[in-house]
Amino acid sequence: MSYRVIQWATGGVGRAAIQSILSHPELELVGAWVSGGDKVGRDAGEIAGCESLGVTATNDTEALLGLDADCVVYSPVMADRPTVIRILESGKNVVTPLDWFYPGQRDVSEIEAACQRGGVTLHGTGIHPGGITERFPLMISALSRAVTHVRAEEFSDIRTYGAPFVVGEIMLFGKTPEEAAKSSMPAMLGEGFMQSIDMIADTLAFDLDAEKQTRHEVAVATAPIDSPIGPIAPGHVAAQRFTWQGTVRGEPVITVRTNWFMGQENLDPAWTFGPEGERFEVEISGDPSSKVTFHGWQPESIEAGLERNAGIVATAVHCVSAVPYACRAEPGIRTYLDLPLVAGRAAPSLARAPS
Ligand SMILES: NC(=O)c1ccc[n+]([C@@H]2O[C@H](COP(=O)([O-])OP(=O)(O)OC[C@H]3O[C@@H](n4cnc5c(N)ncnc54)[C@H](OP(=O)(O)O)[C@@H]3O)[C@@H](O)[C@H]2O)c1
Repeated sequence: MSYRVIQWATGGVGRAAIQSILSHPELELVGAWVSGGDKVGRDAGEIAGCESLGVTATNDTEALLGLDADCVVYSPVMADRPTVIRILESGKNVVTPLDWFYPGQRDVSEIEAACQRGGVTLHGTGIHPGGITERFPLMISALSRAVTHVRAEEFSDIRTYGAPFVVGEIMLFGKTPEEAAKSSMPAMLGEGFMQSIDMIADTLAFDLDAEKQTRHEVAVATAPIDSPIGPIAPGHVAAQRFTWQGTVRGEPVITVRTNWFMGQENLDPAWTFGPEGERFEVEISGDPSSKVTFHGWQPESIEAGLERNAGIVATAVHCVSAVPYACRAEPGIRTYLDLPLVAGRAAPSLARAPS
């Protein structure tokens, strides 16, 4: 069985998703949406840095909605809810790293209704949120009795993130601490991370307090720091730490944290990644406790990251790996708690012939 897939947007995630679709034995790329500009009319394979595929990128939403396809991998910069609804109503499953990891108590009735009308599934996945933050902690938690705390944490050099506008104007690196204090990031990122906290709390049956905690800390440059968005001037924001927590009677039981630094030098406070360097960590405190460290999702160098960021590739592949499972699932918003174990596939050169 082969599933026909449309890739929606060809940024970092989208380009890696096209590469991943090409090497997946059950998937075929049949369409590609781009937001406009000179990508319109180009071959989707060429946009993704692969061979020409005979799939022409378009910004014609209607044409793509009319296409015979099983699934859309949806990865534009922002989610457009009406578009997602129309894709679902057109009978195409959607897998996305933008949202819908675990809607919990949020009102998703419109989206749910669109899934039912189209007879399809919407699945949110990625790495953080959408993997490191809840899927892997939940798996590992099964090895501990009486869990008291769950932690998912990222330690990344943000100089490898090749989206200068996002880094400078949305994440507010290089701005003054006063400007960064008004950041919309805690709320924007919190949309996803709070869903991860809810998924863990509901599954492990923590009796969470109604209010979750959010903390935003910054470190400033003590000397000019070179960065892809230009030099960070002394006294300006060069590192940020965002923390979201679920508590029981005021005590933290679930912690999600990102440590995003413009390198580890000339920072005040003098934050570092510690001896283990850049990484993602999952820690379950219980009997026994477990700590799992993920390496390999951070680029080897700033140049390598700006070219192709392994964390972005992992995000894309997690989406693409989920496509066959999402296509086979019962209609509706389907999370990790509903789908069977989503797995990758062997390299084509090592795979057995289809039976
Ligand atoms: N959950 C996770 O773990 C995770 C991890 C990484 C990223 N993400 C999310 O995934 C999304 C894509 O990330 P990315 O790294 O691929 O971002 P990106 O490189 O900035 O690409 C986003 C793409 O969105 C399209 N776009 C640009 N302007 C647009 C507009 N006004 N309206 C609609 N689309 C527009 C463009 O596609 P074209 O170039 O094709 O025109 C652009 O290349 C982001 O929302 C990001 O937050 C989630």
